[in-house]
Amino acid sequence: MKPLVKLALLVVTGATLAALLATTASAADEAKASAAKVAMQKFHKAPKDVDPVCKKISEGKASKEEVAQALASYKAMAAEKPAMGDEASWKEKSLALIKATEAVAAGKPDGVAQYKAAVNCKGCHSVHKPQAKK
Ligand code: HEC
Repeated sequence: MKPLVKLALLVVTGATLAALLATTASAADEAKASAAKVAMQKFHKAPKDVDPVCKKISEGKASKEEVAQALASYKAMAAEKPAMGDEASWKEKSLALIKATEAVAAGKPDGVAQYKAAVNCKGCHSVHKPQAKK
């Protein structure tokens, strides 16, 4: 085999391995992550210049799918123990979010207003988001 071809093969193999390792690592992270963390990353966070789903819902601009997916994620989040803080408060806040999202999904006139009140980032983070994690 020509040295150049050999080198190219090595590079390709290395890249494939690295990609494989990266996938395995992120899958493990996902399994470990709390449902709340997953919900936050999927629906409350977005790359720069992209509106996160929570913003779209607050503006009445989210698609039915987005609302349904956020709702499912909020339900999973409500079913688990809070990462921090009192369980009763966690249930109250996450259930309010579920109810509000259901109201949006059902097209209720006050759904968006309810959602805006329930998706109070700071109100929930100050009691339930571990400070060590950013
Ligand atoms: C009902 C409670 C609640 C509400 C409302 C809420 N969050 Fe969170 N959020 C959490 C909890 C709990 C965590 C920590 C999850 C963990 O680390 O397991 C978190 C973590 C996060 C994180 C870090 C995720 C990561 O990668 O570790 C981001 C970003 C975030 N929230 C964004 C938001 C934004 C933006 C809003 C408002 C639009 C919001 N959240 C509203 C409960 C909430």
